[in-house]
Amino acid sequence: MCGIAGYIGKKEGLPIVFGTLRKLEYRGYDSAGVAYFVKRRKSGVKGVKVVKTVGKLDNLEQAIFDKKSSLAAAAIGHTRWATHGPPNEINAHPHWDCKKEIFLVHNGIIENYKELKEELLKAGHHFRSQTDTEVAVHLIEEYGFEKALKKIVGAYAFAIIYRKEPNKIYFARLGSPLVVGVGQEEYYLASDPTALAGLVKRVIYLKDGQRGVLSLGGFKIGPTRPKVEPLDIDPEQARKGDFPHFMLKEIFEGPEVVRSALRGRLFPERNLVKLGGLESAADKLKKIRRLEIISCGTSYYSGLAGELLFEELSELPAEIHLASEYRYRKDPTQKRAACVFISQSGETADTLAALKKAGSRGYLTLGVVNAVGSSIARATEAGVYNHAGPEIGVASTKAFLSQLSVLALMSLFLSKNKKSKTAKEVMRELSAIPGKIKLILAQSDKIKELAKKYLKYKNFLYLGRGYNYPTALEGALKIKEIAYVHAEGYAGGEMKHGPIALVDKNFPIVAIVTQNGVYEKMISNLEEIKARGGPILAIATVGDKNIGKLADDVFYVPKTVRQLEPMLNVVPLQLFAYYFGALKGYDVDKPRNLAKSVTVE
Ligand code: M6R
Repeated sequence: MCGIAGYIGKKEGLPIVFGTLRKLEYRGYDSAGVAYFVKRRKSGVKGVKVVKTVGKLDNLEQAIFDKKSSLAAAAIGHTRWATHGPPNEINAHPHWDCKKEIFLVHNGIIENYKELKEELLKAGHHFRSQTDTEVAVHLIEEYGFEKALKKIVGAYAFAIIYRKEPNKIYFARLGSPLVVGVGQEEYYLASDPTALAGLVKRVIYLKDGQRGVLSLGGFKIGPTRPKVEPLDIDPEQARKGDFPHFMLKEIFEGPEVVRSALRGRLFPERNLVKLGGLESAADKLKKIRRLEIISCGTSYYSGLAGELLFEELSELPAEIHLASEYRYRKDPTQKRAACVFISQSGETADTLAALKKAGSRGYLTLGVVNAVGSSIARATEAGVYNHAGPEIGVASTKAFLSQLSVLALMSLFLSKNKKSKTAKEVMRELSAIPGKIKLILAQSDKIKELAKKYLKYKNFLYLGRGYNYPTALEGALKIKEIAYVHAEGYAGGEMKHGPIALVDKNFPIVAIVTQNGVYEKMISNLEEIKARGGPILAIATVGDKNIGKLADDVFYVPKTVRQLEPMLNVVPLQLFAYYFGALKGYDVDKPRNLAKSVTVE
């Protein structure tokens, strides 16, 4: 959500911290700030300079542009996504104590901040901001680092510098991700390992409860022993290349993303699926009788398709849950179930909380996660990585495709009859999906034209049935996020139970009407819309001669088996949302009010 950066080493800290914040900007972006050491002109004594700005990082860059006087000493920085108090300079991090000795940046939420603030006010502390974070720095001033941490209830990743200790950064993690980058006589802090790609080759993924200090001479971390691991992220992957936006780049990575998810795992000629990440749970998996899928947002919609895949291909009953609801239910999981947690970032607070709940009750927990080494990847008993590479655009696109690929693989892996006609067909078709996505991407200009034509509309209804119901939901979510257009996803059969009342010439329907078992049913739904004057934009199968008579516009996609249709049908919908937002001039990579990983509740 917010982003943390820190550096201690022999180089000037400010530009390094700012560069790291740039890579984290996509996570949260309503204000930003840095704290770094400078020499006082008169006394020559080292002091701490704080610069904070509202809005995008460009504003911070402008503000620190001529401040070349940062010393080769510790520096910390933060990008904020407001939770407590509006985005303004005062609420932006770093925050400091009464004597301006301690400077702190924070990700997460201090749940008991009101009680703590009252206690500190009584003790004479003076507060400036409306944030929960400021409580932490006064608490450290009052009680010291260790004792202050014990008093905090909630989630945090902290980076702290003390004016009297220019060569040290203190830090702590509980519930919010924080990574230490280990270089040659230099150390970094970041809330996301992607931001350290290209800077260091080794990292320590801090565990909950770990805290410590970085200095020029090394690091001290406790109470548990830290593990230094290689950082395996290609910095190239995190760049935009020739694309105007990360979102478009990531949509175009679709074919490669599916290939990466299948590589070394799918062997159609041998009717075989190998998932190394599930081997450790093989015995437990043999005993399970149902699957519960738990996730949020786009990951929830891929899970909705996963529910059908597990039911059909693994012959296991499956149920999808919103993580934010699951975490507060009494005991939503049935006996002998395995819980599958889907998350691109691996840091979504609701999903993590649901995972902790399921784990504490003894259910087998499995992850479908993209971010390697993330909290969800670590906390699940076994799982399958997406291998989609970092997703930078706030709107999830390539991750959705890779989640669908992994869920199809998992459902085939769990199938007791991999030689069935259906299983064989799905395996064969899975390998053909990347080529078919390429065919769709080659027609992206057509989608751009369609976006231009429909740009005048303010409301949309996305319709689909069966495997394409999740596709409709995901298509609607994309255009909401990116183009700020009201859109609803609906199951075609539900039209007559209410939404049909909305249909008129100003209410276009995006219909996923590819040729499968529910094609005729979808056609009937569209007839009802046509009769009421609703404009129809159809996603249909290449070669469908009838749909043109009913729909105002048609985008044709290649034929595939119904189980894999979302993997093709979602691509034009992603492009449609992208062009819609881009044509309106919106910052599609960083849509308003959103953050890439939702690490607060
Ligand atoms: O990182 P996760 O997959 O757990 O994130 C879940 C949702 O926050 C995420 O999919 C969100 O809905 C995206 N902005 C959708 O584009």
